[in-house]
Amino acid sequence: MNTLAVMCMALTRHSPSRTPLARTSAATCSVTLTNARRVGTSNHSSLRWDFIPRTYPRGSAGKTGRSGVEARLPVSRALSAVKGMNDILPEEIGRWHAFEGRFRAAVELFGYSEIRVPIIEATPLYVRSVGEGTDIVDKEMYSFVFHDEPLTVRPEGTAGVVRAYVEHQLAAKEPTSRVYYLGPMFRGERPARGRYRQFYQAGCEVFGDAGPGVDAEMIDMLVRFFASLSIDGLEVLVNSLGGKGTKAAYRERLVAYLRPMQAELSEDSRRRLETNPLRILDSKHERDQAAIAGAPSVLDCIDDDDKRHFDRLLELMTKLGTPFRVEPRLVRGLDYYARTLFEIKGRGGDLGAQNTLCGGGRYDGLVEELGGTPGIPSIGFALGIERILLASTFGADQATASVFVAPLGERAGAEALVLGRELREAGIKTLVETRGGSLKAMLRRANAVGARLALVVGDGELDRGVVQLKDLAAHAQADVTRDSLVAAVREKLA
Ligand code: HAM
Repeated sequence: MNTLAVMCMALTRHSPSRTPLARTSAATCSVTLTNARRVGTSNHSSLRWDFIPRTYPRGSAGKTGRSGVEARLPVSRALSAVKGMNDILPEEIGRWHAFEGRFRAAVELFGYSEIRVPIIEATPLYVRSVGEGTDIVDKEMYSFVFHDEPLTVRPEGTAGVVRAYVEHQLAAKEPTSRVYYLGPMFRGERPARGRYRQFYQAGCEVFGDAGPGVDAEMIDMLVRFFASLSIDGLEVLVNSLGGKGTKAAYRERLVAYLRPMQAELSEDSRRRLETNPLRILDSKHERDQAAIAGAPSVLDCIDDDDKRHFDRLLELMTKLGTPFRVEPRLVRGLDYYARTLFEIKGRGGDLGAQNTLCGGGRYDGLVEELGGTPGIPSIGFALGIERILLASTFGADQATASVFVAPLGERAGAEALVLGRELREAGIKTLVETRGGSLKAMLRRANAVGARLALVVGDGELDRGVVQLKDLAAHAQADVTRDSLVAAVREKLA
């Protein structure tokens, strides 16, 4: 794919309630790729990318008056990452790897297997699952049209996983499936600490288990996992939305309660009264707080079956010793939920106001809604990895290298490469200083990468058939014969 074309590709916010996506972007502002960039080598000259024309500051290339996207790109300014989308630098990646390793280990203990689904899906998948009237679908999706097909860069993971579950008929292969995933999600939210436009989730989904045993197990698994990461102030909120019948009855009751106070509500909530009244309970707007406080509880509406399910969940959580608080006004920003809902909040570390570490719940009707076998109950959660990293203090599991090879001079430079290869073949993480330099500078670097040992080789060592092995923590050193080097390093690292 042509890089420039990607940069210019319109990631238009999908807005189904306002204008049909395809018509808006195609009619107002499509260009051909050839038009956008004449120097491109692409043979896709018939590709059409829909884009929003961007305005660049005066003095940028736009001033040249040339038409097309290329002319609009500022040539003199360094490009920076898109707002709300962050680089994860090598110095930070250790903690990410450590988290990912711990997450995989924790959920695999419970029988979850990894699933990887595409980052781009058909837009209707999200409209039908997450739902119109939700912030995600109405305002936050990065959607675009490619070859007349409306597509969206995933705002969350569940819909894609359910689509894959249905498409590959996993229900026919096994009665229950447990899958997990890790990866980036994209929502055009207002960026803040802990809230990004590209963020990473880790999540699990279970298909074919109606609970509530698995609901309790999942919440307990999360609480223990967060505790193992030393996250403080964990708070578990649970609620039940009931099944389809309950949801409809509660919706009616809520609208009847809110309608008389419509004029006092915020503009967003007045709109939601028509489109998605349950979301009003989640409003942070000052004007809505009094109305929310007096709102009827969904738990007063749930039918006997739903109530039994919820009571049993609470009983199991109590038995497991999982701390929890029932929060009858807990609703979540996605429409597919039914019955169990939960969120886990944290405190401490660098976590600011965005302190919801994870959220999830049952979505018993979604498999059928997306064309799968009716009656397959499902539950899942996703956690925000950035928020976990902010809330916790665990370090990277491993240094960049265990051994740092510091050659002095040209002859030693060649020997260092051989040494490095031997150590890696023995499974030892080794970094060779290929640029040379003074011994002092090389040892400084060895410490910076977290190496435990440094191997110094110069002409003298080469002549004597030895290598100087420095234990950087113990500040001790000894010559080791070339033949016994791998064994000596192994012994030191053991
Ligand atoms: P969600 O509540 O939208 O649920 O997101 C889950 C978690 O992702 C949040 O609790 C938060 O930690 C993190 N998160 C969400 N938005 C952002 C953002 N803009 N920046 C940083 N972190 C964010 C879901 O996505 C559902 N798919 C969860 C689920 C799975 N339900 C059933 N299965």
